[in-house]
Amino acid sequence: GNKQATTLILFGATGDLAKRKLYPALYRLYKKQNHFAVIGVARRDISHDDFRAIIQESLENYTHRDDDIQDFVQKFFYYALDVKETEGYTGLKSLCDHVDSEFGLKENRMFYLSLAPEFFAPVTLNLQASGLTDNSGWKKLVIEKPFGRDLKSANELNEAIHNVFKEDEIYRIDHYLGKEMVQNIQVIRFANPIFESIWNNRYISNVQITSSETLGVGERASYYDHTGALMDMVQNHMLQMVALTAMEPPSRFETEDIRDEKVKVLRSVRQITTDDIAGHIIKGQYTRGTMPNGNVVKGYREEDNIKEKSMTETFVAAKLFIDNFRWAGVPFYIRTGKRMTVKSTEIVIQFKDAPQNPYFNNFNDIQPNLLVIHVQPDEGLSLKLNAKKFSSSGDTMPITMEFSNSDLTGADAYERLIQDCLNGDSTNFTRWDEVALSWEFVDSITKAWNEKNIPLDRYESGSMGPASAYELLDKDGLHWWPLT
Ligand code: BG6
Repeated sequence: GNKQATTLILFGATGDLAKRKLYPALYRLYKKQNHFAVIGVARRDISHDDFRAIIQESLENYTHRDDDIQDFVQKFFYYALDVKETEGYTGLKSLCDHVDSEFGLKENRMFYLSLAPEFFAPVTLNLQASGLTDNSGWKKLVIEKPFGRDLKSANELNEAIHNVFKEDEIYRIDHYLGKEMVQNIQVIRFANPIFESIWNNRYISNVQITSSETLGVGERASYYDHTGALMDMVQNHMLQMVALTAMEPPSRFETEDIRDEKVKVLRSVRQITTDDIAGHIIKGQYTRGTMPNGNVVKGYREEDNIKEKSMTETFVAAKLFIDNFRWAGVPFYIRTGKRMTVKSTEIVIQFKDAPQNPYFNNFNDIQPNLLVIHVQPDEGLSLKLNAKKFSSSGDTMPITMEFSNSDLTGADAYERLIQDCLNGDSTNFTRWDEVALSWEFVDSITKAWNEKNIPLDRYESGSMGPASAYELLDKDGLHWWPLT
């Protein structure tokens, strides 16, 4: 049927994200009976057929294909455009009208901007000027990150796109919100009274959220060198995971109720002041080193197109506090970086120790209870407990109860998010106030970093970050739990 009849106008159609993630996701959505056609837009002057060859190649490289590929690629069209030139949009509109009537797409339009952020506002305004957004069906704007560079620029961008799209037509992508186990956080918390009843500062000692990567900057120097890990990962993915881990149960599991609760967390995250920045927020940059697979890799400053004296951070570790009733006094430690030992994203909830009791003295090797949410590469959950050591008199030993989702053939983040967008469900996209509050917090760090001249700590490629990131927890009598 015509269930999600849509023309998807994809800006940045020859880009890396489109090839690696979006086309494979669209293919799987096509196989799930979604009804759409795609107009790819980019600067290069290529034909529809050249474009279809790009799609085919992307599918060959990144997904499982069946013999329906030909039918699939027939739904792809190409339009060459310098996105800043208003005149060119007239032709885009004609093509859009044509594709729409050919495939019966009911003038429903999804504009997907997989572009450098400086184009977000001008493209939106040009869409309006050309009449592309005066369609009789629905319209949606999907926008990749980064949404601005700070609160001020994010505000300006937001105002520009709000001239054309209403808030409920805007889908700000944070692809971590499309990950299976990130979506699972709410279920694990709110469907299990045994966790939710102790999910607070009386029972939880600290929370550790890590997202480490083994890749370096790769070919993204021009973007990354003026962005850095704080804006690239902390402002969005890391703070979203903090919000989901810390939020109150929403009164209903509906889009705005869930977002309201996340916003409350973000509003409660303590701003960083110049006085407490030192030792609270660590920034690092990778140097030459050996990865666990034996490859010797370049330091950040030796990478192609990176400034020789670049001060861009490729690693951030931070200690955050959420100043509300539930979390008062519980540190949330976060860390993220490139060229680390493993590719892993994990949320570790460390529970408080059992009370000291002289009669328990023979309990040796007692470890804190840990609940670990494994986001990637494995998807699962583990719970660390203490038990009696088998056939010993009183000795104890740590044990782990584990659930691991071995069926990793499910939808990937982009497939889920695009499907949600087709369905008009914006729960797993960030609302403007979430973005604004995240920027406010990140801006407080940037400002304090600048004022205090906080050093950039070097860490060897293949390590888990600079020594200062270990000291961050050491000072509190804690340590990072090893990733699994
Ligand atoms: C992106 C960042 O948002 O997330 C990249 O821009 C980073 O720098 C990527 O590599 C990590 O995503 P994932 O899904 O591989 O953890």
